[in-house]
Amino acid sequence: MRSNVVMIFSATCLAGVVSAGAVFADAHSDRQALMRSNNAAYNALDAQVVGILDPATVKAQAQILIDNGAKIAVLFAPDSDQNDAGAQKAVWTDAAGFKAANDKFIADAKTFLTAPDRIAMAHALVTVQADCAACHKTYRVMPPAPAGRGGRGPAPPPADQ
Ligand code: HEC
Repeated sequence: MRSNVVMIFSATCLAGVVSAGAVFADAHSDRQALMRSNNAAYNALDAQVVGILDPATVKAQAQILIDNGAKIAVLFAPDSDQNDAGAQKAVWTDAAGFKAANDKFIADAKTFLTAPDRIAMAHALVTVQADCAACHKTYRVMPPAPAGRGGRGPAPPPADQ
């Protein structure tokens, strides 16, 4: 009887530890999922510039970026989980700077909605990509660069040397 109580108690403790771990994992994976959606929307807009320009697609994909900007503000809020190996501590120690970078991203993503032609679209793409990169430079822990060309291992030595 007594050992059963001990077993139940330790099982409860273990469940607690596991779920606490899951909370940490979730903040990071929610943020990753959001950023991957940024990447997909950006690439869809990029494809519009060289392919058939469909205003409805541009509007929908731009709206994803704009909505993602609002979600970034929530997922990286001052009281959100800071135990994230992919995010610099500066996200929270410099919350005003992070907000400014995100606000600029949202404002620039909105320019897709009024871009009259491919030239304007191309300008918006360059500007928004610079916003992604600017925020990453300060607030993201960049993964190590893949080894060699295409990340498939070290580059072969030049043929003539
Ligand atoms: C305001 C800041 C900010 C902006 C704007 C921003 N990002 Fe990010 N991004 C981050 C941070 C911080 C991380 C690291 C998240 C983590 O690991 O928890 C990240 C991670 C990523 C990742 C890696 C996701 C993974 O699977 O690990 C990709 C891809 C990415 N961003 C794409 C983009 C693209 C594309 C844009 C623009 C269209 C963009 N981001 C705009 C801050 C930003």
